[in-house]
Amino acid sequence: VAKVLIAGAATGALHGEVRVPGDKSMSHRAVMLAALAQGDTRIEGFLSGEDNLSTAAVFAQMGVQVDWRNQAKTALTVHGVGLHGLHEPEGVLDAGNAGTCARLMVGVLAGQPFHSVLVGDASLHQRPMARVADPVRMMGARVDGREGGRKLPLAIHGGGLQGINFEPKVASAQVKSCVLLAGLFAKGETRVREPRSTRDHTERMLPLFGQSVEQEDGWIVLCPADSLLAPQTMVVIPSDPSSAAFFAVAAGMIAGSSVRLPAVGVNARRDGWRRIFTAMGGEIALTNGCTVGSEPVADLEVAASSLHGVQVAASDVPDAIDEFPLLFAAAALSDGEFVLHGAAELRVKESDRIAVMADALNAAGASVEPLDDGARIVGRERLPGGCEVDAHGDHRIAMAMAVAAQRAEAPITIRNAEAIVTSFPDFVPLAQQLGMNLHWSAA
Ligand code: S3P
Repeated sequence: VAKVLIAGAATGALHGEVRVPGDKSMSHRAVMLAALAQGDTRIEGFLSGEDNLSTAAVFAQMGVQVDWRNQAKTALTVHGVGLHGLHEPEGVLDAGNAGTCARLMVGVLAGQPFHSVLVGDASLHQRPMARVADPVRMMGARVDGREGGRKLPLAIHGGGLQGINFEPKVASAQVKSCVLLAGLFAKGETRVREPRSTRDHTERMLPLFGQSVEQEDGWIVLCPADSLLAPQTMVVIPSDPSSAAFFAVAAGMIAGSSVRLPAVGVNARRDGWRRIFTAMGGEIALTNGCTVGSEPVADLEVAASSLHGVQVAASDVPDAIDEFPLLFAAAALSDGEFVLHGAAELRVKESDRIAVMADALNAAGASVEPLDDGARIVGRERLPGGCEVDAHGDHRIAMAMAVAAQRAEAPITIRNAEAIVTSFPDFVPLAQQLGMNLHWSAA
């Protein structure tokens, strides 16, 4: 049954503690590396969202057995088949809505001496794939696809790869990770130098599996070992900062709130939203800092504060790339002007996040001027709301609008919001637990 998400003004302050689910980026990588390792890997804190389940299913189709160790599918054992143990899939490999699954799998499949076809949903079929197809072609893989090999479905026949020195034009962790994963199967070294540093979960996780990754003069260097080993490797995945951000920002915006979010990943390459939100006047304290696996983790303690617009520094853009829909919502409810440039990548995410957020917030009464590579937003105390908006099947738009609605005069109906299950299946019940006003309703 089709449903819509209805969100309205919070009736009081947000309070309490919520453990948000595991990190999406790390969950993809954990399954991939575990599948390619020789032996069993246990993963805990796995995000059982649709995106990550797509990655697990893709490996199952190539002969990797995955045992779920609890009903929630947050704990699993992956029986790795080794770097050369995957077999040719009989059917097409479906990445669903998951850009990370698709782009990182291009790297893995480029290393396989067999034929595979990678597909996704309608949104993923619109997203640019040349950025990953081009480098693996340079390494020696055959990649054909729609629109001259630039869009899914892609047909890949890999094997016989040669390492490359690659300097991507876009700062993209997916591109970097694709090339590094292909590098596992290549002869010689593979090197990547990014225009700006992006999330480094791949580089941090590979050494857990015995594959070293070096840094040399701005180059990330992978010299492939003979195999990835899983000597009873255990990967524990921290809570996803990109999910925690929705509750942190909501608490920051609603007077009197105070919320605690334990064991969230605080990797510097993911904390752009915290830097920007703090510059806007947000109050987020980090406590109980520690290291989990190869990642820094801390509890976030958020208190409400008064917020104002800022000019976002270009250097903060890659570290906050997934949180701009949410930051736009916060900006629409802050004092003064918020300006973002240098974020054209937002136009090729699960939706065109500049256009879609501008439409949705403006429908609710905000003043958002979309720019080619960002937005200019003039904030106000409350949004009039009382409207229907379209999340265009983009999980982060749906959740960002649900947060914006907490300071709307009349409820906002969010259509095409079901995609929340791709990254944060329990978003609605956990948000309700903290005191946010939102619920699903039959369309
Ligand atoms: C991701 C990288 C980012 C991000 C995406 C997850 C990753 O994409 O937007 O949600 O896990 O590597 P780009 O690499 O396209 O910037």
